Amino acid sequence: MKLKVSENIRSLVPYPPGKPIEELEREYGIPGSIKLASNENALGPSPKAVAAISAALTKLHRYPDGSNYYLARRLAEKLGVAPEELVFGNGSNEVIELLIAAFLEPGDEVVTSQPTFLVYQTMVQARGGVNRVVPLKEIAPGAALTSSGGGLPLGLVHDLEGILAQINERTRLIFLDNPNNPTGTIFGRTEFNGFLARVPEEVIVVLDEAYVDFVDHPERIDVRRYLGHKTPVVGLRTFSKAYGLAGLRIGYGVLHRELAGYLHRVRQPFNVNLPAQVGALAALDDDEHYRLTLEHTHDSVAWLVRKITALGCRVFDTHTNFFLVDVGSDGKGFYEAMLYQGVIVRPMTAYGYPGFIRITVGTDAENRRLVETMAHVLAGKE
Ligand SMILES: Cc1ncc(COP(=O)(O)O)c(C=O)c1O
Repeated sequence: MKLKVSENIRSLVPYPPGKPIEELEREYGIPGSIKLASNENALGPSPKAVAAISAALTKLHRYPDGSNYYLARRLAEKLGVAPEELVFGNGSNEVIELLIAAFLEPGDEVVTSQPTFLVYQTMVQARGGVNRVVPLKEIAPGAALTSSGGGLPLGLVHDLEGILAQINERTRLIFLDNPNNPTGTIFGRTEFNGFLARVPEEVIVVLDEAYVDFVDHPERIDVRRYLGHKTPVVGLRTFSKAYGLAGLRIGYGVLHRELAGYLHRVRQPFNVNLPAQVGALAALDDDEHYRLTLEHTHDSVAWLVRKITALGCRVFDTHTNFFLVDVGSDGKGFYEAMLYQGVIVRPMTAYGYPGFIRITVGTDAENRRLVETMAHVLAGKE
């Protein structure tokens, strides 16, 4: 083949797809594996969403509603914004892609952190943009614990000052996930306000709030307050985490209606599928599932951090449903040893933290099994 492929595309590394859990079980001969690797909801989907989707299955011969009419109205009401200030996507991943498609031309620049959610930089590169990458900084310099695995401190967060220093006339977007994936750390409202005041008006600041539901902190940022700010601020939210609907693929942006208009220009007409719209609408009114999810997450994180610390491992300060654990020098080896015991966690080598694994909160039984397996692996019994 004589394909003409740009260097931007050629040098991208495809997202490493995890094997289906059933395949892993066959391969390793371990039935009953548990997956605590993708920051999903431990309690499963909202039962109300499941019922609504089941009832809608006979309509699958129809295209979905391209305007997300009912969902947009209900969500707007719940958030206290206008329906025109919401843009839905096939997961919030798609909204990231729409922002880049709408506002970035080849050679334009985007500022992100390192490490952060991997998708931002991949999509920027795929569109011919230039990534400016700023390492995370210590939460309180000198105050954080120092890890044994590669000397990393255990409280790293976006370096907003460092990000400001990277802005120039070609900068179009800044992506900040708050809480950050993979560290689970946050920055607060006071720091963000000071930052925003210094961002030029033509730069769009994207606050990815995929995990904001789990944040229980007085400095928690509410993106809705910033929709009229002179510097455009876009909030990204998802039904994949607190609402337990990752498999449906539905997320949204909260943004000024003028910005929303540009995203609508570049999106596919039917980008959100029919079960996703119906399921999300039902999940929004499932207060009980939402409340139980938050309660379970907070209780489980506290329990797990206590147990894992007691095993002699250091744990990152977290504000969400996952956390990083320092397992010494070989996170990949630790991950593989856990895999042989049927417990799937996430090695952090791809994020530049080779001595760490990332663990997502599971059910109570899964959490107990995780701790037992970690103890087993740490004792060198694998
Ligand atoms: C920071 C962050 N943003 C967005 C997403 C993706 O969300 P969605 O499932 O809505 O595409 C994730 C998923 O892991 C994430 O960690």
